[in-house]
Amino acid sequence: MVSASKVLDRVLVLEMVRVTEAAAINASTLIGRGDEKAADAAAVEAMRAALNELAMDGTVVIGEGERDEAPMLYIGEKVGSAIGTGPRIDIALDPLEGTTITAKAGPNALAVLAVAEEGNLLNAPDVYMDKLAVGPGYPDGIIDLAKSATENVQAVAKAKGVEPNEIIVCVLDRPRHEKLIAELRGIGCGIMLIPDGDVAGVIAVTNPETTIDMYMGSGGAPEGVLAAAALRCVGGQFKGRLLFRNDDERARARKWGITDLDYIYDLKELAKGDCIFAATGVTDGSLLDGVKRLPGGKMTTESVVMRASSGTVRWVRGEHRKNG
Ligand code: FBP
Repeated sequence: MVSASKVLDRVLVLEMVRVTEAAAINASTLIGRGDEKAADAAAVEAMRAALNELAMDGTVVIGEGERDEAPMLYIGEKVGSAIGTGPRIDIALDPLEGTTITAKAGPNALAVLAVAEEGNLLNAPDVYMDKLAVGPGYPDGIIDLAKSATENVQAVAKAKGVEPNEIIVCVLDRPRHEKLIAELRGIGCGIMLIPDGDVAGVIAVTNPETTIDMYMGSGGAPEGVLAAAALRCVGGQFKGRLLFRNDDERARARKWGITDLDYIYDLKELAKGDCIFAATGVTDGSLLDGVKRLPGGKMTTESVVMRASSGTVRWVRGEHRKNG
């Protein structure tokens, strides 16, 4: 059997782009059509077909839901063309991160996945996660989810050599974030409110062009693992704590082997060892341009694929001449 790391090195890095491209292209036919479910289904179908062409023994550890909720790419589904013989790879995926964005033709919808050797991605239940992220170049441990938003901003501002009111924080625009937003406004921070898509929101802290210094607030836990995998590759710090709204959600976490429900995860615990993160833009965004359909049936895609062990980041512009 081929060792997983060899496969991560040689084959999977670029193959992963084909997978996210396929999902993005299929989902793009439904941009602005007001149908979240159809857009998601299109992305799922294409991503699954592309994954099944890869010579690996893959297991979906973060997917479209549990087996009884999702017909395709459910948690635990085996994918790949070498099940039982190929390298064992765990996959965290979100074929369409930003279903509402896509339905409304808004910015920052992505097709996204992360892969790692078996056992290296947190099997995060589909609950919320409190997230805190900062870009590269800061001392280790500068952010701390056990501290207040104000204390975290003050620490980052001090290290950056600016005042707290010069710090820009990205936050999902949700009623549950009212208190957080009021606290940040109270110390004069700039807040970039995003309607959806916190994988792109977290990754934005790594790109100075976005001017975003920090990411704060709660969003999907699966998206937290995906964002952590990306930050493992490009640098930056990320902390996440699962949030539970009821006993059913707590039971889900225990089912996946999580015993300390208040644990604060570091990005190295969410995505361990070597990992690969790949994303293709569905709609234009801060990270990637979306799928463009040109006259004559040509399409262009923009993707990024990154690998933790080397820190290599590859930007891939694809030209496609037929659908899929
Ligand atoms: P979907 O693609 O599943 O719609 O997720 C979009 C998203 O904005 C994520 O980026 C984010 O983590 C989550 O939804 C936030 O959840 P909620 O909309 O319940 O606040």
